[in-house]
Amino acid sequence: AEDGYRMWLRYDQVADSERLAQYRKHFTQLVVAGDSATLELAAAELTRGIEGLTGRPVARADKASRAGALIVGTPNTSSTIAALKMSKLTSLGQEGYLISSRRVNGKPATVIAANTEVGALYGAFALLRQLQTHADISNLELHSAPSVKHRVVNHWDNLNRLVERGYAGLSLWDWGTLPAYKDNPRYHDYARINASLGINGTVINNVNADARILTDQFLEKAAALADVFRPYGIKLYLSVKFNSPMLLDGFETADPLDPDVQKWWQERTKKVYDYIPDFGGFLVKANSEGQPGPQDFGRNHAEGANMLAEALEPFGGVVFWRAFVYAPEQGDRFREAYDEFMPLDGQFKDNVIVQIKNGPIDFQPREPFSPLFGSLKKTNIALELQVTQEYFGFSYHLAYQGPLFAEALNADTYAKGEGSTIGKILAGDIFEYQQTGMAAVINPGTDRNWTGHPFVQSSWYAFGRMAWDYRLGSETIADEWLRMTFSNDPALLQPLHEIMSISREAGVNYRSPLGLTHLYAQGHHYGPAPWHDKSGRPDWTAYYYHQATKDGIGFDRTQSGSNAIEQYHEPLTQRFANPDTTPEDLLLWFHHLSWRYEMDSGRSLWHELVHKYDTGVAQVQQMQNLWDSAKDYVDTERFEHVKALLKIQERDAIHWRDACISYFQSVNGLSLPKGSPKPA
Ligand code: GCU
Repeated sequence: AEDGYRMWLRYDQVADSERLAQYRKHFTQLVVAGDSATLELAAAELTRGIEGLTGRPVARADKASRAGALIVGTPNTSSTIAALKMSKLTSLGQEGYLISSRRVNGKPATVIAANTEVGALYGAFALLRQLQTHADISNLELHSAPSVKHRVVNHWDNLNRLVERGYAGLSLWDWGTLPAYKDNPRYHDYARINASLGINGTVINNVNADARILTDQFLEKAAALADVFRPYGIKLYLSVKFNSPMLLDGFETADPLDPDVQKWWQERTKKVYDYIPDFGGFLVKANSEGQPGPQDFGRNHAEGANMLAEALEPFGGVVFWRAFVYAPEQGDRFREAYDEFMPLDGQFKDNVIVQIKNGPIDFQPREPFSPLFGSLKKTNIALELQVTQEYFGFSYHLAYQGPLFAEALNADTYAKGEGSTIGKILAGDIFEYQQTGMAAVINPGTDRNWTGHPFVQSSWYAFGRMAWDYRLGSETIADEWLRMTFSNDPALLQPLHEIMSISREAGVNYRSPLGLTHLYAQGHHYGPAPWHDKSGRPDWTAYYYHQATKDGIGFDRTQSGSNAIEQYHEPLTQRFANPDTTPEDLLLWFHHLSWRYEMDSGRSLWHELVHKYDTGVAQVQQMQNLWDSAKDYVDTERFEHVKALLKIQERDAIHWRDACISYFQSVNGLSLPKGSPKPA
């Protein structure tokens, strides 16, 4: 049975006989010089991978003696690699790798070289990816180095093992058996999965942090996890609560300018490093959704972040300080992060990284990019993406988010003229940042297949690959993922590619097309509730976002409204000022328009909206047909699982469409276009 546990690290024997023969010829010996834990992991992964993929054992050897040796290491650990004098290595930094077909001792060999052992481990995974995707490896000359320095996954795991917005079982961290039972195979497989993508950091607990994470009781457990992750090149980080000194030690204040508070953090941070010598740092959600923060004490985000940064600095740690802030008193939630953070640009210490969500409201299926990108010039920044499908149908709906992530990375901020994309900004190519990073909220839990819906794995994969290289397109990544996770058979690839390329847009269409957003019922964020609900915070209700009245619909963010568009650089401000030059898929983000506004299609806005909802449902049905056509190429277990989930998705898409259209119709009193499907 295939339950998806292996994710994309499946090493079943290659079906293509020509490739199989080539691979067998190329890997007769494995030469891994050096005896570090990390190189041992590289050797173990290559042994497992090559044996599985070729169906032949591969012998470990001290030096290359036959044709078909695979030589792995660094110029320091391997005299063979040193002797090859690979000049390219100098440009590959601390984590890059080189894979090259060479002659060694007069015989053909494959070399994986890097400047560090973890670089060699990444190279090992990269070579296996070549084999898993049936690439021709007879003449390899590959080299790669990561775009950003910190490639971090965020877990929203609570200490009671419930995972906020997780939908895939309980937390992976079994606090009750830690630290005694640290060699839980699942921890190792988790680390392999991340290392295979080049992910080098993990924040193991929820941003809505529990102060107890900084007590000996939990630090001892966290340290055990850090021990497991270390050889995979993964640093451990913790989310901390800003008022920890008050909660843990009875302080009356957590004012970041109070010397006693500063001292508390310095001592506590030192304690963390006593447990975890290579600890990565803190992630902080402050003054957001009820979390404590420096503003509670009359201080700003920079003063709060810098206090923690000072405590971490002697040990080389960093602070990820989140820019996800908003309060109901403010008029437009879209504006807030920018309004709060821009005045502080240049005030954050060098080991602070402001972590900015995509997009400015929350992780919606489509948002315009946050104007903080391209505006914070003197503050290190990281992009925060969400792999877990909080707004994408939990683990029930199929939604490959590669296209969404790529849309964010390719968005042009015009910060320094055309071509100032977010990807380039993150990589430090536009402004001179001291630290660069990308983060994603992932959802693995105790579900046997880690993520609940098997296709959530694809978004985790896409995040990791794009954090490594922001230029990789979402289709290239989907192709790798499909080949590695399912099969290289074109009869499978064709329909599954199509599913992956439409799934995100389908999710937008049946929930919130044309730049509508956040029509969810309060709290769970699963189903629709566009109707007027006056019970809760206004910025948690759908009405706040869609502003539908008898005359029209949409949130006016132009000068006549909140003027949030002023936060963008030109020519974007001008473009978004006018509905005619605003991309239609963002139209209602920026404009409140008459239901009769004429769209490019010639339809009225109202009829276009109905058309989009119908399209969303049709796309889900198309995904169902495509999936059915792949039946013979997918194992029964995953086939039936996804088939059933698509059925649920179809039901929900219809519900979304009918709920939204009927509600809007009750507001505008207009009739449906002729031939519209009747509500279910
Ligand atoms: C969303 C989500 C919360 C989460 C928050 C955050 O609002 O619903 O569960 O805590 O984002 O990112 O901090």
